[in-house]
Amino acid sequence: MKHKGIILAGGSGTRLYPITVGVSKQLLPIYNKPMIYYPLSVLMLAGIREIAIITAPEDRAQFERALGDGAQWGVSLTYIVQPRPEGLAQAYLLAEDFLAGAPSAMVLGDNLFFGHGLPELLKRADAQEGGTVFGYHVADPQRYGVLDFAPDRSVRAIVEKPADPPSNYAVTGLYFLDGSAPVRAAKIRPSARGELEIADLLNDYLRDGGLTVETMGRGYAWLDTGTHASLLDAGNFVRSLEERQGLQAGCPEEIAYAAGWIDLDALRARADAVAKSSYGAYLARLVREAEGRR
Ligand code: G1P
Repeated sequence: MKHKGIILAGGSGTRLYPITVGVSKQLLPIYNKPMIYYPLSVLMLAGIREIAIITAPEDRAQFERALGDGAQWGVSLTYIVQPRPEGLAQAYLLAEDFLAGAPSAMVLGDNLFFGHGLPELLKRADAQEGGTVFGYHVADPQRYGVLDFAPDRSVRAIVEKPADPPSNYAVTGLYFLDGSAPVRAAKIRPSARGELEIADLLNDYLRDGGLTVETMGRGYAWLDTGTHASLLDAGNFVRSLEERQGLQAGCPEEIAYAAGWIDLDALRARADAVAKSSYGAYLARLVREAEGRR
């Protein structure tokens, strides 16, 4: 199936105030690159090249400046404004014209995924009919949408931020849904907190047997950036990993070049554009390696 991509980067980031008074949360640094590079990389690893970025009205220009039209990464980026943060499911209404009936993979702009086998997991979801979401074991499920398992271990419901969580499995912010998502989203009524809840949309898929729930095992990292401490932890995680391996996590240029979406000249141009940073030095190394030098 050919999914289009959505990155939901709206919201006002109030839980990170005062940092996010002047800048969008999803543009904050996670160590050496803007947060949104990581979810963008996830969509690119899934083979997705047509991507809409949903932002708050006042943040749109910043995102366009940071990411452009995507040509530098061999992808096409479209910007859609979310006038008010009225829930994750609203993204499907805002993106209806962009999707034009196509299935979609939506990732939240503040969700970081890392793990061996991630591209294969994503490609499996891309090939699946209906919808696919990912369950991840967390210590604090009450902060998320949570999987409620029947005795036979099938999923019977997804419960949003339950005070008494039915399991420790949170639903991550990565949703592969078929072309019916906008029509289903249009049926949802706002919750008590005034939002169109993604859990309601996913339960609609569950009711007609259209939802596959995959588990991301403990070999994956699904990182949170919702508090000052977890934001710093995520940056330290990326730094530790990258310094140990000498490889970057969430590098769109590397993914695009490996996929054949950009050529060596385009990779070289990107390396030159950010040459003074260690990120630029990494891209320059990729160029040298591609040229057969080290
Ligand atoms: C949202 C969703 C929740 C999901 C979480 C993942 O929560 O409502 O179901 O588990 O993203 O990050 P929110 O970010 O709105 O608190």
